[in-house]
Amino acid sequence: MNANHANDALVQRAIAGFRDHFDTDPTLGGVAPGRVNLIGEHTDYNDGFVMPLAIERRTVVVGVPNHSPRCRMVALDHDGNMATFMLEGIAPGTTEWVKYPKGVIAQFIDNGHPVPGFDAVVTSDVPLGSGLSSSAALEVATASMIEQLLGIRIDPVHKALWAQKAEHDYANMPCGIMDQFISAMGQRDHALLIDCRDHSTRLVKLVDPDVAVLITNSGVKHNLGDTEYPLRRQQCEEAAATIAKTYPQVKALRDADMKMLAAAKEDLDEVVYRRARHVIGENERTVLAADALDRGDYPEVGRLMYESHAFLRDDYEVSCPELDVLVELARGCDGVFGSRMTGGGFGGCTVTLVKAANLNATVEAIQAGYAEKTGKEAVCFSTRPADGAQSFTLA
Ligand code: GLA
Repeated sequence: MNANHANDALVQRAIAGFRDHFDTDPTLGGVAPGRVNLIGEHTDYNDGFVMPLAIERRTVVVGVPNHSPRCRMVALDHDGNMATFMLEGIAPGTTEWVKYPKGVIAQFIDNGHPVPGFDAVVTSDVPLGSGLSSSAALEVATASMIEQLLGIRIDPVHKALWAQKAEHDYANMPCGIMDQFISAMGQRDHALLIDCRDHSTRLVKLVDPDVAVLITNSGVKHNLGDTEYPLRRQQCEEAAATIAKTYPQVKALRDADMKMLAAAKEDLDEVVYRRARHVIGENERTVLAADALDRGDYPEVGRLMYESHAFLRDDYEVSCPELDVLVELARGCDGVFGSRMTGGGFGGCTVTLVKAANLNATVEAIQAGYAEKTGKEAVCFSTRPADGAQSFTLA
């Protein structure tokens, strides 16, 4: 076991859980972080730009080969029941959480890497269903554990794409690429500007000790798998197709600008027009925010974050009253540069950029104000940008 893991409480919890369930020691594992998106929301499936960072909350999978044609997996943070499944003819099945690892296993198999039977235990401190990519962390951690099991390393771009496909095919969620990418490729002290068309990335330093990234969980659970997320995707495709009638170079909203949108306004449904206006503006905001962050121009990053929230609320309609309350509370605090909802929306978390000196006072004000205005509890934590996924041995 390398020294890092000996001192890692989450890995230790997974190991202890493994011993309880399987009466032996795990020999290998994978770990992958959740993420928070600073800016670039609902742009990834439009071939656009996103700028997330990996957070200091992770999912760990530890395991051992079991020399059989089946897998046994336990998620300590769910019901603790053992899910058992055969590798041959692997299919989603009905157990909610195990769909994600199963989908990842299927990707390895489909890409010519037969996976041997294994026993594994999963544990995580990424809040579930809160817009911090708990499912991507589970997918990418599983993929990292399987890499170790097979003694191979998968190119991180492929790993992210396989994890995304697992989510599409096994969880029926037509997500973009952001969550799996940052979970696989995050780097400590950096946000990552991702071009979701060509998959190129640019590291953007975020290491200033005077600035903190605050995550606030509204406690409102989203359900992206329902009708709204696929509907947004569809509306964006419709907008791009309409614009392309005049501007054939427009393959996705990434290629459109406000002038092109204005030219197509007559032919667009009013709602679809607003959806496109958010996406086109958000792509611009994201690139501007990356440049501003590079310069250490936090007020400008914050301005763009507030603007992003306003468009997500009014044009894209993926916010909810609780998230709007949290953003307004943050806006009222000294030292806050900017705040916005993060992730798919309809609940989940906000992300706030705040002077480190004002962090505690901001948390107190947000929690008190949120309780007063909504009767709900806001859970806050700050994070530094963390590393992406890793595989490891425990022997
Ligand atoms: C979810 C999806 C991502 C992305 C965001 C919105 O997190 O998984 O691919 O589309 O919503 O930006």
